[in-house]
Amino acid sequence: MSILEISDVTVDFGGNRAVDSVSLPVEQGSLTGLIGPNGAGKTTLFNVISGLLSPTSGKVTLEGQDITKRKPHQRARMGLARTFQRLELFTSLSVRENITVAGEIRNRWNMSDQVDAAAETERVIDLIGLGEVADAEVSEIPTGQARIVELGRALMTQPKVLLLDEPASGQTEDETVLFGELLKKLTGEGTTIFLVEHDMALVMSVCEMIHVLDFGKIIARGTPEEIQIDSAVLEAYLGSQN
Ligand SMILES: Nc1ncnc2c1ncn2[C@@H]1O[C@H](COP(=O)(O)OP(=O)(O)OP(=O)(O)O)[C@@H](O)[C@H]1O
Ligand SMILES: [Mg+2]
Repeated sequence: MSILEISDVTVDFGGNRAVDSVSLPVEQGSLTGLIGPNGAGKTTLFNVISGLLSPTSGKVTLEGQDITKRKPHQRARMGLARTFQRLELFTSLSVRENITVAGEIRNRWNMSDQVDAAAETERVIDLIGLGEVADAEVSEIPTGQARIVELGRALMTQPKVLLLDEPASGQTEDETVLFGELLKKLTGEGTTIFLVEHDMALVMSVCEMIHVLDFGKIIARGTPEEIQIDSAVLEAYLGSQN
């Protein structure tokens, strides 16, 4: 059984079919990629998985349980966390405060299983390597680092499955290399990661399995080696540049 299973999910926005009969498994402990040109439906699919959007049809299961009708906070309590393509940070709070707040929110949903938010914040800051900027206001740090703060906030919920929507955008090449190492470390510790990302060097170096969306449909899936030579994928990307 896959930890996360998307079955025949379709999303219509008026007459526009943003996601079209998508089915895919995300295996426990894997680093799975979701790529595709702009507007392909990646964020929309993440919104369905995290519960911000109800699909027009189809089903999402987490650890075998149908979560399609559950609210976002119920999914979070079950171990699902995400980051946002448009950062959702408190810019006038420090890096540390942003991360702590995520722990406090988690404690509010999870009355029976509290974490020590302050101690957990220090563990997460150390894990993501932001000790040097922990006291800086988020408005003062570069976007690339702010994306790592966003990841830190998601980690405060101690997720089983982490959905990352373009976490490397705004990062320098060196930051992205370190970020890839961090993602591998997290999956090495048992976290499952589902990654939407435009940085192909990152996707190809960290993902074990990649699914490719184009105009809402899965057009290919396979290992990085298979995806890089897939003619439908090359065509979708070339077409999107016209
Ligand atoms: N709330 C919405 N209402 C109407 N249309 C929407 C909405 N959200 C997304 N869309 C449309 O759905 C399609 C898929 O958008 P989505 O944001 O999921 O693409 P994406 O693959 O994440 O793109 P990008 O790589 O640019 O982030 C696009 O045509 C978009 O305009
Ligand atoms: Mg998107």
